Amino acid sequence: MRLTPRNLQLDALGQLRHFLTLEGLKPHHLTQILDVADSFINDANGEIAKVPNLHGKTIMNLFFEPSTRTLTTFEIAEKRLSADVVNLNIETSSTKKGETLLDTLWNLQAMLADIFVVRHSESGAAHFIARHVAPHIHVINAGDGQHAHPTQAMLDMLTIRRHKGDIYDLKVAIIGDIQHSRVVRSQIQALSLLEAREIRVIGPKTLMPPDPAALGVHVFNDIEQGLSGVDVIINVRLQNERMQSALLPSEKEFFNLYGLTKQRLNAAKPDAIVMHPGPVNRGVEIDSEVVDGAQSVILDQVTYGIAVRMAVMSIITENAQKLKAHQAAQAHAS
Ligand code: CP
Repeated sequence: MRLTPRNLQLDALGQLRHFLTLEGLKPHHLTQILDVADSFINDANGEIAKVPNLHGKTIMNLFFEPSTRTLTTFEIAEKRLSADVVNLNIETSSTKKGETLLDTLWNLQAMLADIFVVRHSESGAAHFIARHVAPHIHVINAGDGQHAHPTQAMLDMLTIRRHKGDIYDLKVAIIGDIQHSRVVRSQIQALSLLEAREIRVIGPKTLMPPDPAALGVHVFNDIEQGLSGVDVIINVRLQNERMQSALLPSEKEFFNLYGLTKQRLNAAKPDAIVMHPGPVNRGVEIDSEVVDGAQSVILDQVTYGIAVRMAVMSIITENAQKLKAHQAAQAHAS
């Protein structure tokens, strides 16, 4: 099901206005985010720049579902862009007294918000919000149900590009709960748009979407076969909170069959990188030795999340200025 009218996140110039999903975007939208994110990273020391791009803007982080990495790196990114930052504590907000989501949003809008960063357990929540906010407000999806997590996928693409170069040449394997993961959906869209040579998904049949081949991926139920010769391994956790019923005999059994161990890693290319969006469940989908091993770039992903989120917020704010200038020029000409 398409959750979005095709152009909800694009403006009249075809530029990003919101950032809700990678579905329907063009490769140049993704490469622009990666290039701008790269420009914020100092290659000499790994530091991330502090710039005035969002000075005077107010960004509200609305997390209706728990988060460590996404919320914190958004907040750091907003501060690096010199924005004013508000983290709404949903647990102590008036949503607990029965206020609807839209009433909450309209009140926050009246407090002169410029960007809402939204995480919600309902698929489609960010799109719903984008359809109902004032035209000057931008909405960024920080993860909605099992639908999409576009900034996570983009920080993953940046991590791959910085470690392995052009994504075009790479074989990428994603292992774990493919069916319930919003991260995997967004990663597959990103890898497809950036034309990765081969995208593989590895896991038991019970954790595969009904028609995985339709996603343009190669499906493997055997982990060693799936890992054979790949450049990049992305491990994702079991999304137990989204499973309607028990889809696995046990976590121990899952680790025995699909856990990423040092021995299994040997099937991949010797210089393959290991990624995980977090949170990691050591001993369930991945062994501690691999999480902490030389091939792991899991903590780089977290750092690059700051640069990618800075890039997304800078781009959509700059796009709004470009659109305004374009409209003013058109009005002047007519
Ligand atoms: N990867 C990710 O979304 O992590 P958090 O849930 O901690 O934000």
